[in-house]
Amino acid sequence: MERIHTKIVKVNENNPEKELIEEGAKLIKDGKLVAFPTETVYGLGANGLDEEAVKKIFIAKNRPQDNPLILHISSVEQIKPLVEEIPKEAKFLMDRFWPGPLTLLFKRSSLVPSIITAGLDTVAIRMPDHPIALELISSSGVPIAAPSANTSGKPSPTSAKHVIEDLYGRIHMVIDGGKTGVGLESTVLDLSCKPPMILRPGGISLEDLKEIIPDVKLDLTILKEDKNLTPKSPGQKYRHYAPIADMFVFVGELEGIVKVIKEKAGELIKEGKTVGIMATEETKNRYEEGVVISVGSRKDMATIGHNLFNTIRLFDEKKVDVILAEGVEAHHIGTAIMNRLKKASGGKIIKV
Ligand code: TXA
Ligand code: MG
Repeated sequence: MERIHTKIVKVNENNPEKELIEEGAKLIKDGKLVAFPTETVYGLGANGLDEEAVKKIFIAKNRPQDNPLILHISSVEQIKPLVEEIPKEAKFLMDRFWPGPLTLLFKRSSLVPSIITAGLDTVAIRMPDHPIALELISSSGVPIAAPSANTSGKPSPTSAKHVIEDLYGRIHMVIDGGKTGVGLESTVLDLSCKPPMILRPGGISLEDLKEIIPDVKLDLTILKEDKNLTPKSPGQKYRHYAPIADMFVFVGELEGIVKVIKEKAGELIKEGKTVGIMATEETKNRYEEGVVISVGSRKDMATIGHNLFNTIRLFDEKKVDVILAEGVEAHHIGTAIMNRLKKASGGKIIKV
């Protein structure tokens, strides 16, 4: 692919400089690619109504064409031309969780280019909770199509540094607004089926959603490893969030996890391998060998979510051959964390 000059601009996340955002918005209107922070992860944005611009996203990221994109909006008004109807449940959810890390599927209108939806009859929409993202969308005056701003298959970027590592020379601008907050992508929710189904767990948990739609369910493919189940969300079928290193995730009772990781690390080190251990604050001092990084405290799962992708990238920087990761309990934000660990390890989850 032809090398593109990537401009990097630092923007104050609490009070975005108008003229810098306008520069990004102008690029979007011109059909160019701009990476920007959201509250979840960095997005790679293009004008969502411009098919040619959206094609560039797939090329820059090396993304399979059958994986649809999310449209990002800055006001509820902006949805109307994009969808056939707004169901009552969607209105309640939007009231409660927008702006925020919840993506809703709607019946698409004919205005939405089919490259966005990968030919599906639904379109995914969300309103991000980040001053830079909101300002960029409103300043460009169009819905912004934005997948996570990483090379396809790599962990999603939670800082501008990650975006630059993956996409420098392939996109026109990176807006650096510091680290993202949630650190995991949005929850993708399908309301068109009964019961409503979470296709990708994320920043808004099943438990949060149950307060508004009590019958909501998790798609069965999210945590279970069953090759016969086809995920409804095309993105869920790919190996994702993956480090270069081989990765194993250990789940069960914590004492057992620590014991098995210590044994496994010892064996691998004897074989001459460099071993990374993804530990937690509670356990990090228990490991005597390997490259030990704590992802956060087990009492503060939000911080583990915030650090997860950065920690996976750190192990690659340290050039470990194998990552042995402690699992967490799969409820609340832990469901999204375990889903990402499952994908990052290619399903290598070991019950101790
Ligand atoms: O937090 C996020 O959602 C971030 C930020 C940038 O907003 N974006 C993001 O986009 O994670 P991406 O493209 O990396 O993931 C979008 C997911 C994919 O798994 C995709 O398959 C699914 O949403 N998706 C999009 N449109 C869909 C549709 N119409 N039906 C089912 N799944 C859909
Ligand atoms: Mg992604």
